[in-house]
Amino acid sequence: MELQSHQLLCIGCGRRLGAEEAQRDFRCADCANLFEVVYPWSSTTASPEGSGDSVAAIDNRQPNPSALRWRWRERLGSTAPIDQSGVWRFRDLLPILRDPERAVTLREGNTPLYSLPRAGGELGLERLFAKHQGMNPTGSFKDTGMTAALSVAREMGFQWVACASTGNTSAAMAAYAARARMKSLVLLPEGKISWPKLSQSIDYGALTCQLKTDFDGCAQVLLEVVRRAPVYLLNSMNPYRLEGQKTPAFEIAEELGWEVPDHVIVPGGNLANGSALGKGFLEMKHLGLTSRVPKITVIQAEGANPLYHSLRDFDGQRMEPMEANTRASAIRIGNPASWKKAVRVVQQTGGFCEQVSETEIALAKAEIGQEGIGCEPASAVTLAGLKKLVRAGKVLAAETVVLVLTGHMLKDSDYTIDFHRGQLLTAEETEGWEKELEHRRRGTRSLDANAEAVLRELEAAVPA
Ligand code: F0G
Repeated sequence: MELQSHQLLCIGCGRRLGAEEAQRDFRCADCANLFEVVYPWSSTTASPEGSGDSVAAIDNRQPNPSALRWRWRERLGSTAPIDQSGVWRFRDLLPILRDPERAVTLREGNTPLYSLPRAGGELGLERLFAKHQGMNPTGSFKDTGMTAALSVAREMGFQWVACASTGNTSAAMAAYAARARMKSLVLLPEGKISWPKLSQSIDYGALTCQLKTDFDGCAQVLLEVVRRAPVYLLNSMNPYRLEGQKTPAFEIAEELGWEVPDHVIVPGGNLANGSALGKGFLEMKHLGLTSRVPKITVIQAEGANPLYHSLRDFDGQRMEPMEANTRASAIRIGNPASWKKAVRVVQQTGGFCEQVSETEIALAKAEIGQEGIGCEPASAVTLAGLKKLVRAGKVLAAETVVLVLTGHMLKDSDYTIDFHRGQLLTAEETEGWEKELEHRRRGTRSLDANAEAVLRELEAAVPA
């Protein structure tokens, strides 16, 4: 079983590179497309024209599914850091390091799969779950990708790592770089990310630069920086990020007894995460760990919806960059790097792409909060989108649905407070939604400091 080797495969022209041969911007020198990591046991579904099983190259180097399941379960009882990581526990399927024992880990992954009985009940779905990736060490799903790609950077001998970010990638990168005693450079759109995210990058010691532009502008500047200085790019164009980000797919399947859900729904920003999860599910099916693949659906905010347009207007053949605007600042991206990967996974799995309004996002976030869970605004697009899909008959009552909640609620507490105080949405955005907003909003009360005042409130709150 040859598990130690991997190659980078261009998703456009099919060119293959050795691990050390990639350009600094992780684009193909021939066709400028992105790469993905492939292994001797990978199916070639990865290739651009690949059509799933018809080209599956099953050979005798393929890992054995029962042995893998047993080994992954056994590692749960281990105290070794890489076994305690929900990413490296599955290292057999991401053999990207020469020495996995030296992976830089904060014990990421192993996130909960919560049921959402209230939201499910309202939608008539019996099996609605939230995979809460906000329960990772720095509060977002980015940690699973960061442990993978930053470990590669360290193994390759880089001292500096860098990313442009809407706040979560930078928080994760800064933390993992600090653990690895590496230096990190963060480019952020000034005034367009939340304070908690900014505070993380500063506290973890990154060289934090706020640029007078948006995320897309930061990404542009960073590309030039990585071409001119020996810094290792850790944005999601880096295919190793996706190897870490595919592992929640393994966790979901394991938790559901190696069944897969019918739908997995993710928010779409720079558009890497849906394809990472899709890769995980496709690999599991190819290896015989599971028998099918869920439909992967991407939801975007109306003000930052280039993938939605691309699929609706051009069948995913091209994407027109836009100036993005949404209060879900994590996904305020108008020129997403991985749009072709997202198109491919949506089309390959039979999933959908939806857009949701600012009001729908805010309501969905409050609804998730009322399940006792909470998430950041970008994550709530998943529930908002699911509602539309149920109404359109694209998700059925008997189906199992997993929403991927990508960030922790405390990532953007201003948003939550503004919503409940009625200060988030404009009059125009509120129009027609008054009843639902009333139903979801929870205020606070300012009282005199005595028991009578509190008891009066309690009495008023107890239903007669
Ligand atoms: N949800 C959250 C909370 C995010 O931070 C992001 C992306 C996404 C969803 C979208 O994921 O880019 O793979 O489509 N945040 C990046 C960042 C861009 O810089 O933190 P995607």
